[in-house]
Amino acid sequence: MDQQLEQLRAEALAALAAAADEAAIEAVRIAFLGRTGKISVLSEGMRTVSKEDKPRIGKLLNEVRNAVSGGVEARKAALEAERDQAALAGIDLTLPGIPVPQGAVHPINQMLERAVAIFRKMGFALADGPDIEDEWHCFDALNTPEDHPARNEADTFYLPDGRLLRTQTSTVQARTMELVAPPVRIIAPGCVYRRDEADATHLAQFTQIEGLYVDEGVTLGDLKGTIEYFFRELLGSDAQVRMRPHFFPFTEPSFEVDIKASALGKGDKWLELAGCGMVDPAVFAQINKKRGDQAYDAEKYTGFAFGFGLDRLAMILSGVSDIRLFTENDVRFLAQYK
Ligand code: DAH
Repeated sequence: MDQQLEQLRAEALAALAAAADEAAIEAVRIAFLGRTGKISVLSEGMRTVSKEDKPRIGKLLNEVRNAVSGGVEARKAALEAERDQAALAGIDLTLPGIPVPQGAVHPINQMLERAVAIFRKMGFALADGPDIEDEWHCFDALNTPEDHPARNEADTFYLPDGRLLRTQTSTVQARTMELVAPPVRIIAPGCVYRRDEADATHLAQFTQIEGLYVDEGVTLGDLKGTIEYFFRELLGSDAQVRMRPHFFPFTEPSFEVDIKASALGKGDKWLELAGCGMVDPAVFAQINKKRGDQAYDAEKYTGFAFGFGLDRLAMILSGVSDIRLFTENDVRFLAQYK
């Protein structure tokens, strides 16, 4: 029996060495180790082996079984390695890989995301409006007289059908109030357009963020606190806010907002960064007329609004000296703002 076992082992290993694919390997396994395989059949002879030979032959039987099943696995692994080798033929795995360029968020959008996050903390919701607007939302609703210079064809892009590219995100104030009754607390970031000659600090397209808060008992103190909180979150706790009286058609009183902060790196200079004010009751009157109700009752509600450009802030905070770089889409420029 010893001899027979040794012979089966040799036979099986030779058959495995000759097996050229998985099916052939499996056939060998079944032929030797299967239920009716040669080794299994031979092992039935154990019953007739004498008592003293049993331990030795039993051990050998196990060895042979293990050798053949080990051989099956080894042959499978060898075939797999051969296949991998063939697949990699001619490929030099030591060559450096091809880098996949990684995109980055545009510096103006980075600025915008930061601004939105700060206002969200104060409970402002995001609102939206179209870039192509009508005169009502851009001017009439916002108490802007027919002869106001902003309505001039020289300042505003008009479409042949009389619509226009919005010159300010204040349009979203009108769009929001038209749809929802107070209280409203929204911010609206977006592109605005003016017929400006392009130079290092002007483009015909730029980005603004608008804010509007209407509720019972909203005061100028709330407006100042909101603006102060925003700029301190954005620029650091040394940011100082100064409000100077100004005129905007849709707010009364109106202010321009100047900021001084070491993050702005302008030494001790005040920088004019925003416009704001208390919503003019004349705006509420326009909205009520359009809505056909008295939802914006100026006896009951007051509100504040503000708006500022993001490009100038983004320029200062990211060290860009020419606004045109923002729209040229040169990846060498954009890649610096990861
Ligand atoms: N829309 C104004 C502009 O483009 C900025 C502005 C001023 C917005 C006062 C406001 C505001 O909401 O109350 O110059």
